[in-house]
Parts: sequence; structure tokens; C-alpha cells
Amino acid sequence: MASQVWLIASGKGGVGKSTLTACLAVALGRAGKRVCTVDADIGLRDLDAILGVENSVVYDLLDVTRGGCALAQALIPLPGQEGVQLLAASQFARARELDPKKLRRVLERLRQSFDFILLDAPAGMEKGLRTLLAARPEEILLVGTPDDTCMRDLGRVAMFLREKELPAPKLVVNRLRPAWILAGDMPGARAAAESLELPLLGEIPEDESFLRALIRRENPMDTAGEAAAAVTRIARRMAGEEVPLPDYGARPEKWYRRLFHRGRP
Ligand SMILES: Nc1ncnc2c1ncn2[C@@H]1O[C@H](COP(=O)(O)OP(=O)(O)OP(=O)(O)O)[C@@H](O)[C@H]1O
Ligand SMILES: [Mg+2]
Repeated sequence: MASQVWLIASGKGGVGKSTLTACLAVALGRAGKRVCTVDADIGLRDLDAILGVENSVVYDLLDVTRGGCALAQALIPLPGQEGVQLLAASQFARARELDPKKLRRVLERLRQSFDFILLDAPAGMEKGLRTLLAARPEEILLVGTPDDTCMRDLGRVAMFLREKELPAPKLVVNRLRPAWILAGDMPGARAAAESLELPLLGEIPEDESFLRALIRRENPMDTAGEAAAAVTRIARRMAGEEVPLPDYGARPEKWYRRLFHRGRP
């Protein structure tokens, strides 16, 4: 399988891009893939903390693009997960300082050593995102939560991508609440994807174990919750496997059986 660059983006901020990027890296690593996560949210670095390696950051992405250090010096291996590495974001810089051509060159070099390169984008449609799009990722994954403002913003990002003739993005709907979907208070992932006219790559339920893991500085993929299982399914789809969507909120008997009757006959 040829190396793939995936851009993880959203319109609205705080929808779970960095959490998803970190979790996908771990899930793909567990599946035996070589993964490099690149924190491209210049000025607001997060991925190092989510991955629990913030004390190992010496050099960052801008140091590499500016020639301040060798690429190998800036790559941080993830302890306990062979094959997964992080290229951290610069904390004291602005998006405009990242040169698109130099970024592209760094990505070309990463392609030689990794199966997946995951770019964690900043929120919004400004310079930060445009620089990453100029690096021509093979795949764009748009993350959204099932609320009107987020969906509206995602619609605008999707339209912008279509106008630029960039790869057709795939959608991941995060923080779904099955009981609310059942009650008709929240759109399901399929309905969201249909209204945005985007193919649905995955759906992740609201799961407090993700937030708890972040607070406790634990690996969210080590939690036994439904969100970690959902991310594992998304990673398998990224690797080309056909994995059915759970359809949270649409088939109550399946959902409740998994939640309340786990392990029982
Ligand atoms: N499925 C989920 N269930 C519960 N909490 C979640 C879920 N996904 C993400 N979160 C929480 O949402 C918060 C925001 O997540 P995250 O930082 O990944 O968003 P982001 O899109 O990267 O934000 P930004 O736009 O600021 O970069 C975090 O506290 C995270 O733990
Ligand atoms: Mg983020």
C-alpha cells in the first residue's frame, strides 16, 4: 500500500480533531501500520499532550521546514506503541510561518518511512488550513459534531474544497448521543452525511472516558469505552477494510445489547 497523507480538518473548533488524530495513530499503529502524526496547528500544539509525550518535544515542524534540525531529530516515538511517531507543532509561531513548499518536501520525506501521515489541522478555513491543502493530501477527513452550527461550518468547508478541486472529503461525526438520536433530538451520522452530501467514514459516540483519559493523561485508546472501539473501526476503514457502520441511535436493540449486555449470552 502506497503511503497516504490524511488531513484531519473541521470548520468549527473543539470538535475532536486532535483527539481523533491521536487515537487513529494509535489504532493504525496497533494494526501494524507505520504512522507519523504531524501537529499542524501551529501556535496551539495539543497532540504531544494527548499522546503523552509533551516532555519529549525538543524540535518541532517549523524547526524542520526551516532547516534548524534534521527530520529524524524532531520525530518523537510514542512509548509503548511501535511504529507511531509525532512531529510536534511549534508553540510560539504563526501559521503563516509554515512554508507550503517546504512542508510538501517534509511530507515527501515522511512518505518514505511511513504508511500513514496524519496532519492535525487548525480549526477554520484560514491560512493554516490553506497551507496544508497546498501540500496536496491524498485524503481529507472532516470532523464534525451533530449540531447546526458545526454542520453549517462543515458545509462551507466542503464547498470550498469542491471549488478548489481538492480530493472529495470524507466525514466523521463525533460526540453522537444515541438516546438523543432515538428521541429525534439529534441527527444521526447518516442524516448528517446526507445533508452535507459527504461519504460517511465513521461515527463516534459521546464518551466521557475520552475526556477522563485526557485529564488523567492516559491513552484514550486504552479505555474500554465505545469511542475507542469506534475509532478502531475508522482506522480499519482507512486501511481499506470494509467495516459496517454502527448507525448509533438507529438500531436500538443492537446498541443497547452492546452497552448493557456485554459479555452475557
Ligand atoms: N467522542 C468524544 N466524547 C467525549 N469527549 C470528546 C470526544 N471527542 C473529543 N472529546 C473532547 O472534546 C474536547 C476537544 O477535543 P479536541 O481538542 O480533540 O478538539 P479539536 O477539534 O482538536 O479542537 P481545536 O479546534 O481547538 O484544535 C477534548 O476535551 C476531548 O477530550
Ligand atoms: Mg486540535
